[in-house]
Parts: sequence; structure tokens; C-alpha cells
Amino acid sequence: MPDSGQTPRDAWHRPGSGVSRREFLKGSGAAVAATSLAQTAAESVATAQQAGTKVAPGKATAISLDINGKPLKVTVEPRVTLLDVLRDDLSLTGAKEACDTANCGSCTVLVDGKPAYACAVLAHSAQGKKITTVEGLTGPLAEAVTACFTKHDATQCGYCTPGFMVATAAFVQANPKATAEQAAKGLGGNICRCGTYAGVLAATVECAAKGGK
Ligand code: FES
Ligand code: FES
Repeated sequence: MPDSGQTPRDAWHRPGSGVSRREFLKGSGAAVAATSLAQTAAESVATAQQAGTKVAPGKATAISLDINGKPLKVTVEPRVTLLDVLRDDLSLTGAKEACDTANCGSCTVLVDGKPAYACAVLAHSAQGKKITTVEGLTGPLAEAVTACFTKHDATQCGYCTPGFMVATAAFVQANPKATAEQAAKGLGGNICRCGTYAGVLAATVECAAKGGK
């Protein structure tokens, strides 16, 4: 959703919002620790792309992930993103791949309850965290978000919709009674190429006004 304001999610999502590329390349422990999972993955890929080099494959190892409340094991290389694991290894295709550069939000999932771009989180780094995909959004809140999106015609081609719904569910939970302005900022990390923003905003505000029920 176009918005120039900094949102609480920006710090998590935006590759450029925290540690700079230069700092990342220095590889200092402090700098790496300060950056988010999203930044770490995105910076790695961006750096390799800029340098025109291929990311060297690492050894695939078994990892355990908590996806939608279920412990799941996959064997993946360290460079593989959470989005690729979800879609290619676990057949959870609700999170969509569009930009693959942490810019559009179509791959939004919840990591420990907070929205994150799955294309910018390394699968190995997601171990020990609770991952919720759109398939795992259930219960009254999920039903309320669905009902509000339907009522306000908040989808067109639908490609961005799963990401928006995950982001909306998290936003509504954290911001009951949110205004349209707050909703626009809160969903600022998601983009809709069909321009359904008015419907998404109306749906989010109504859902928030009802307390997500
Ligand atoms: S595909 Fe992940 S943010 Fe666009
Ligand atoms: S509904 Fe088509 S990209 Fe959003």
C-alpha cells in the first residue's frame, strides 16, 4: 500500500532500513546480530546479484520448522528462503512470489506473530520460530478478515490477497479501532498491482472496528 510513512513493520521488512549493505559485507558480529532475518537474507541475495556472482550452494541439512502449529522437517541448503520451502517443499502456496526482493508483500507470513516477507527470511533462520501462513489463519479473526475483504470487494486478480490478509489479521489484532490512516500505514509493506487499496482499507477499518470478530 503506497505510503511514505515509516511503519512498525518497516524495521522488520525493509532491507535498507537497518544495517547498510556495506556494514553487512564487513560481516561484523555486532552488525549481523543487529540486522533482522529479513535483512540478512535480502542483503545476501542483493549483494550476490550486484556482484554478478552466483550464490554458492551450501550443504543441504535437515531443519525443523514450526509451520501453522505443526513441526515439519525439510532438508535444504542454507541459502534457501522460507518462501521457497513453503511453496516448493511443503506445498503451502498461499504465500505468493512476486518481487522476490522484499518489496511487495505478496509473500507475507507471520513469524512469531509479526508480519514478515517470507522471500527475505532464510529457512534455516526460521528454526525455533512460529511460522503462520495464510493457510494457518483460522478462527474468528480469519473469518472476520475474509468477510470484510469480501464485503468491501478488496480483491481483483487475487495475487496479493493472501499477503494482504495475513498482514491485515496481524494489524487488526495489534490495532483495534484503527483509523484509515493508521491502516494505510500499517499495511504499507504490501502492494496491489490491481489497485484494490480502497477496498482493502475499508475492509481493514471495519474489521478493526469490530475487534476482529
Ligand atoms: S515476493 Fe516477497 S516481498 Fe515480494
Ligand atoms: S488484486 Fe491483483 S495484485 Fe492485488
